[in-house]
Amino acid sequence: MDKLLATGGGPLKGRVRISGAKNAALPLLISSLLTEETLRISNIPHLHDITTTMELLGQLGVKLQVDEKLAIEADASEVSSVIAPYELVKTMRASILVLGPLTARFGHAEVSLPGGCAIGSRPVNLHIKGLEAMGAEIKIENGYIKADTGGERLKGARIFMDLISVTGTENLMMAAALADGTTVIENAAREPEVIDLADCLNAMGAKVSGAGSDEIIIEGVERLGSADHRVIPDRIEAGTFLVAAAISGGEIEIHDVIPRQLESVLDKLRESGCAVESGDNWIKLRAPEGTLKSVNIRTAPYPAFPTDMQAQFVLLNAIAEGTATVVETVFENRFMHVHELQRMGADIELDGNTAVIKGVGGLHSAPVMATDLRASACLVLAGLIAEGETIIDRIYHIDRGYDCIEEKLAQMGAMIRRVPGHYLSRQSA
Ligand code: EPZ
Repeated sequence: MDKLLATGGGPLKGRVRISGAKNAALPLLISSLLTEETLRISNIPHLHDITTTMELLGQLGVKLQVDEKLAIEADASEVSSVIAPYELVKTMRASILVLGPLTARFGHAEVSLPGGCAIGSRPVNLHIKGLEAMGAEIKIENGYIKADTGGERLKGARIFMDLISVTGTENLMMAAALADGTTVIENAAREPEVIDLADCLNAMGAKVSGAGSDEIIIEGVERLGSADHRVIPDRIEAGTFLVAAAISGGEIEIHDVIPRQLESVLDKLRESGCAVESGDNWIKLRAPEGTLKSVNIRTAPYPAFPTDMQAQFVLLNAIAEGTATVVETVFENRFMHVHELQRMGADIELDGNTAVIKGVGGLHSAPVMATDLRASACLVLAGLIAEGETIIDRIYHIDRGYDCIEEKLAQMGAMIRRVPGHYLSRQSA
């Protein structure tokens, strides 16, 4: 299995284009199941999770065409199966998003329970509760969620989400789009990716209003049609590159980004001493001359500070001046990167869902292991500022969510390359 070799070097400088958002592209592609007409989605990021989603849709009988710009045309006019198998679901939890559309359009679905992952148990009870409220009968048998509407259309319902769930909101919004009557989702997720999906559904003929607020109203329609939709930029990829520039003392410009979607992150970068300017679709960051200042972080659902940027800011605080606390309120086990950073010399104490980070002068290289998508990005960035060569193992995590990360970092001056699994750095040779 390949590894990434990152060598500590100078400041990142230059400009980089942000790819389409993974967490928008996945539900958008899956929404093709709701219509028998062709759905065209452009600005798709080149990621392993996209490949997995295409594999899953293909297994359901959706015909997919990819054009030269990586736009995908999906035709679900001849869906031949409503079963999402464990082999695929276990590699990508977002597969759960087929449950709502299949149940709404075909009255039946069998989706493997996604199971937990490195960052937490990741239950899907809210997805199930919402579909039951709309009239689906749900059984859990042999590790599969089996939904059945008894040949009836789903019915509009008022659904209160006990917890704010991004894919829970997306699954139920898609199901409600074809339900008979009006559905109100209360305590809905407000993430930009939810708004992007609502925009696409409306382009297909759905009647969704309130996306982006905590109450989304969906007036069900009998059928949906075709649409041509462009995926919004990936705010987490953008935030990750901004942190890379901040911690390396660099100066970068990122394009094809929506600055207002990153407000909470830009605020924290300014608080750490970075100069940050932004326009319609660009952000410029210049790191401070001296050391960054530590910044306290508390993750929470959008528009608060995103959990997907938590690992990157643990790293920023590890080399900043002062002591900071980072509180993770969304997932119960999302500090695995801390153990790896400690091996690189970071001074971090973990206490439940709080990390107390004392800034140190610098990090040293060490062989480290990625455990989840955003933790792996944090370790790549750590390797770019640690003295020596850092080898990051299990980088399949990073390939799931970052489009050509080493090329994009290298074009800004980073020393990073993919090496074969047996490669040993000079230190460990
Ligand atoms: C989405 O995951 C994202 N994934 C995650 O990004 C992101 O970290 C997360 O939202 C939070 O922003 C996609 O959009 C594909 P949740 P999701 O349902 O929807 C609990 C990345 O790195 N919960 O909002 O699965 C859950 O355990 C990934 O790109 C229930 O208890 O997250 C968690 O504690 C990682 N029951 C909290 O809610 C449910 O039925 C928020 O989870 C659903 C969720």
